[in-house]
Amino acid sequence: MINLDYHNLFKINPSHGLSEDELNSYKDRIAEFLEKIEKRDQGFYKILDNLEEIKSFAKKVKDHYEDIVLCGIGGSALGATCLKEALPNNGKLIVLDNIDPQLIHEIDQKLNYEKTLFIIISKSGTTIETTSQYKYFRQKIEEKNLEVNKHFVFITDPEKGILKETANNENIPCFPIPENVGGRFSVLTAVGLLPAALIGIDVDKLIEGAQKMKDKFLSENFEENLPYQIALTQYLINQKGKNIHVMMPYSHKLFKLADWYRQLLAESIGKNIDTGITPVNALGVTDQHSQSQLYNDGPNDKLITFIEIADFKVEEKIPGSITFNQLINIEKKATEESLTKKDRPNQTITVNSICEESIGGLFLLFEGQIAFLGEFYNINAFDQPGVELSKQITKDNVKQLS
Ligand code: PA5
Repeated sequence: MINLDYHNLFKINPSHGLSEDELNSYKDRIAEFLEKIEKRDQGFYKILDNLEEIKSFAKKVKDHYEDIVLCGIGGSALGATCLKEALPNNGKLIVLDNIDPQLIHEIDQKLNYEKTLFIIISKSGTTIETTSQYKYFRQKIEEKNLEVNKHFVFITDPEKGILKETANNENIPCFPIPENVGGRFSVLTAVGLLPAALIGIDVDKLIEGAQKMKDKFLSENFEENLPYQIALTQYLINQKGKNIHVMMPYSHKLFKLADWYRQLLAESIGKNIDTGITPVNALGVTDQHSQSQLYNDGPNDKLITFIEIADFKVEEKIPGSITFNQLINIEKKATEESLTKKDRPNQTITVNSICEESIGGLFLLFEGQIAFLGEFYNINAFDQPGVELSKQITKDNVKQLS
């Protein structure tokens, strides 16, 4: 179960927080915004099925490999990293979302190529970081006289692009990213689900959690529609000049979720000179001894969203004292209270426990939130012209040198 508690926003001075009237003025407008989202014909909430192919491929191959290397970047990689860090798994996944030569070298040295599966993920099939990694590792596989179609699987556009073409020509397993699902909204497609299934994560349960959140996302009842609520608090607080959003999970395992969310918020909402919220990641309790000084006494320009875990499923006692479970929650409440005292806007998402279902739910919660947020600002949350421009300039410059 996932809940949002935004009542601290009412406790602080309304010039920084919220009044009931501000919130109420949007409560009956869900249908209007849902209609706008529907018109954009995006698939992120419509694709929660078709798992059989993914599950049967994973079941067939997962024990053949010692390492599974995911080559991809941005939306093609951040979801898998989040899943790997949040949920118990077999520890085989390496997410290679950079082209740092030292990193490539280290991985090359470490791999037993005979026992490695490479997942190449690119919606466009043309992202230079990913195609370069692919070329590099393909050459290694060929040099070792290993069969390419036993060591590669592609996840790409269902119809077009170089990866799709190569898969068809060389009989390489290939999974589609639906046409109307963009990179950062694709974690609940094969992009996140295939790596997850290959490392033993229960993808049915992930989807179950996402389905439940989808029902909330489509509900016209404000009390039920969690994605709408969280979009609205963020939007209204942003109208008060808070241009920074801090995502602060009190859970080590959810730190990479904050990374995934950072991309979703930045790339979706940063669209013109007046529209954008700068995402910041923080970790409870670690950042209580670092960034929280700034949050308490620095510029009052942030909304802080905590994620709190109700049940950690394990209990560890501090000798002669309380449990770590109690301590982490006491510390979170102390941070929340000190911020509220200083009129710093903050709210809390409570997650019952960290499991496949709740992670699936959180993915859809935030994707739905961003979709609503885009409509509040009247921008297209689903494109990324700035990212595309730098991709193009990079490609042109590489062409001149090769
Ligand atoms: O969200 C996005 O669209 C981007 O972050 C992309 O995921 C990223 O640029 C990788 O693109 P592609 O999947 O086409 O290789």
